[in-house]
Amino acid sequence: MKNISVIGAGTMGNGIAHVFAQNGYKVSLVDISSESLNKGMATIEKNLDRQVKKEVIDQDTKESTLNNISTHTDLKTGVQNADLVVEAASENVNIKLSIFKDIDSFTKPEAILATNTSSISITKIAAATQRPDKVIGMHFMNPVPVMKLVEIIKGYATSDETLDATVKLSENLGKVPVACNDYPGFVANRILMPMINEAIISLFEGVAGVKEIDTIMKLGMAHPMGPLQLADFIGLDVCLSILNVLYEGLGDDKYAPCPLLVNMVTAGKLGVKSGEGFYDYAEGPKNAPVSGQFA
Ligand code: CAA
Repeated sequence: MKNISVIGAGTMGNGIAHVFAQNGYKVSLVDISSESLNKGMATIEKNLDRQVKKEVIDQDTKESTLNNISTHTDLKTGVQNADLVVEAASENVNIKLSIFKDIDSFTKPEAILATNTSSISITKIAAATQRPDKVIGMHFMNPVPVMKLVEIIKGYATSDETLDATVKLSENLGKVPVACNDYPGFVANRILMPMINEAIISLFEGVAGVKEIDTIMKLGMAHPMGPLQLADFIGLDVCLSILNVLYEGLGDDKYAPCPLLVNMVTAGKLGVKSGEGFYDYAEGPKNAPVSGQFA
């Protein structure tokens, strides 16, 4: 595999394009918006500069990484040479089904079609194509250049050949792929989201404040971020949508999203990306003060 297409230039898409390009793959980064493509490329350059400054990579690697990426607003042109497509578009089932239907018709028959979905059924996405055996989940973690894990999700019809090729490819990126089966939330979010939800419930019930909850979990459990800060980092809308997938898919009240989370998303408080969540990011994410009615 040499040619990789990444669909979506947002946080996950630009991170995925970054790691493939840094490891010598030719990447076509595709997005319907040229503004998003420009923003995505600027983020990749900023993160490469950070790696150069930390002496993780040299200037030549930075240049070759950027040279390995081409940008496209036309889906067909962007995927037609792909050996592997990694879709990282919006976490919306109808958008994903429509993209997979299109890329199935635009790519060569042997191409593997992967999705970076954090919770939508791989089996359902695969069913929108004529090659369900070649559809698989490649769930990268944010920030992609830093996090080692790729959660590999085997859909009901995913073949062993597709699984093996995807595992090998992830290893070539210096990542650690770990495979699991296709059930709601897979493994990462089935375990992470109830923890985040419980932190929000603890805040909602007045057990402790934002800083107290995060400090207890950060220092007590050696987590790099407390659960409320992590929720802001992931996006409160994303957390809510994953919890709803768990709630509906597993049919258990223990996954019901906390009303405070629902209210915050309804009010447009989405975390880092909207400038406010459990913390206030008006002056950037570092040392952001607590915000909102629970400050
Ligand atoms: N690109 C490249 N390097 C980056 C980076 C990026 N986007 N972001 C951070 N880094 C590097 C920094 O350069 C720094 O490198 P050194 O260790 O060599 O100095 C290192 O990462 C740490 O960064 P910072 O010093 O800026 O900040 P930090 O120590 O607070 O770490 C963090 C930031 C890596 C994000 C850390 O807080 C962390 O690991 N947080 C938890 C992240 C996490 O849980 N991610 C999973 C979210 S869930 C998900 O993604 C899936 C889903 O479906 C919801």
